[in-house]
Amino acid sequence: MELCNLGDKPPLNEIPKKMHAFVVRQDRFGEPKDAWQREVIDTPKIGPLDVLVYVMATGINYNNVWAALGRPVDVIADRQKKGEPEDFHAGGSDCSGIVWAVGSKVTNVKPGDEVVVHSGWGEPNDPWGLAGKDPMLAESTRIWGYQTNYGSYCQFARAQSHQCQPKPNHLTWEAAASYLLCASTAYRMLMGWSPNTVEKGDYILVWGAAGGLGSLALQIAAAAGGKPVAVISEEEKRQFCLDHGAVGVINRNDFDHWGPMPDVNSKEWGLWFKGARDFGKAFWEAAGAKESPRIVFEHPGEATLPTSNFLCATGGMVVICAGTTGYNVTLDLRFHWMRQKRFQGSHLSNDEQAAAVNQMVVDGKVDPCLSETYSFDEIGHAHQLMMKNRHPYGNMAALVNATETGQGVG
Ligand SMILES: NC(=O)c1ccc[n+]([C@@H]2O[C@H](COP(=O)([O-])OP(=O)(O)OC[C@H]3O[C@@H](n4cnc5c(N)ncnc54)[C@H](OP(=O)(O)O)[C@@H]3O)[C@@H](O)[C@H]2O)c1
Repeated sequence: MELCNLGDKPPLNEIPKKMHAFVVRQDRFGEPKDAWQREVIDTPKIGPLDVLVYVMATGINYNNVWAALGRPVDVIADRQKKGEPEDFHAGGSDCSGIVWAVGSKVTNVKPGDEVVVHSGWGEPNDPWGLAGKDPMLAESTRIWGYQTNYGSYCQFARAQSHQCQPKPNHLTWEAAASYLLCASTAYRMLMGWSPNTVEKGDYILVWGAAGGLGSLALQIAAAAGGKPVAVISEEEKRQFCLDHGAVGVINRNDFDHWGPMPDVNSKEWGLWFKGARDFGKAFWEAAGAKESPRIVFEHPGEATLPTSNFLCATGGMVVICAGTTGYNVTLDLRFHWMRQKRFQGSHLSNDEQAAAVNQMVVDGKVDPCLSETYSFDEIGHAHQLMMKNRHPYGNMAALVNATETGQGVG
């Protein structure tokens, strides 16, 4: 078979030579709404440990905003340097779908299985992983559908079989597609950095709490007995956060000390310090207790990190997985060493962490917080909304082979 329409199902194991995909090319790097375009490309071949997933729906993630912009990394050039021939990026790092074909050495899934796919990808022969160490710390680790090609914006996505997790039965294809990247990242941040993991009664500060990562962090922290305090920028998001585990909410627009911290010897530093202290008081008020956060869940970066580090409890941890507002980090080291705080980078998750958080979704303890579902042809538009911080809350999805919303439950 040469090509099938979206939604047409060839027999299991039969793979059309070509497929529909949403693709970025270097000559159109820029605004996601223009950079992402629908094309027909060759369906990829799979290796012995790979699977080809007939994608029903895809999640929309911020990493493919960066892929569209071509910064901070040109993912196409990066792969070409590693010897891959493709001059395009067919992205997408979250999906729900049906396993359609498996490589010769795959044992954990079979054609016909309904799965969600997490995005921790690595070279199967990486000595680090083979030694049983955390594969997320291996040199060969990549984010599937961002640093690798043929992700979930393809009719048939190529993944490694270990990335597959069972699709929660109670979810539609679009809800199932929307959460695993953010959920697994949030889970590693909150539960993966012992001894700084969420314990019963711990106060947690969650930036961007109504966003993709934040909405899942609230629920994971609350399920572990923590008391998350949410940060938002629009009052409409307040109730959403309270409904998803927050014990209190702070509106960051009530403060204006954001950005890199001024020189500690300057007059401006005094103003910054007042802003940080006022934010600390707002935290106590929202928490309902004069307690500092044991974990600060960070991803805005440059704009918020000085405040995060100041607020963090003695012996607590600021854990960060992104620098959405910028990469230049400033913090007052005096508070950092005297109060023996930890500043921990974190990136995606390993198989065990993805499985643990997927089980929380299967068990109904964590909701994907799907806000909007788009059509396949709106994939660029959805990324544009995300870049402009214009999506309503939680996570977004787009249909791929699913023909309408609401399918897949049961
Ligand atoms: N390393 C990893 O493994 C990993 C995994 C997932 C995501 N990420 C990264 O994490 C970041 C967030 O992803 P996401 O999916 O949660 O995105 P999202 O759904 O767009 O949410 C981000 C939230 O950040 C908040 N925000 C925006 N500007 C801000 C500012 N100036 N100061 C403080 N907060 C601000 C917004 O909330 P308010 O406006 O309401 O405050 C927004 O809801 C992205 O950069 C993404 O690439 C990294």
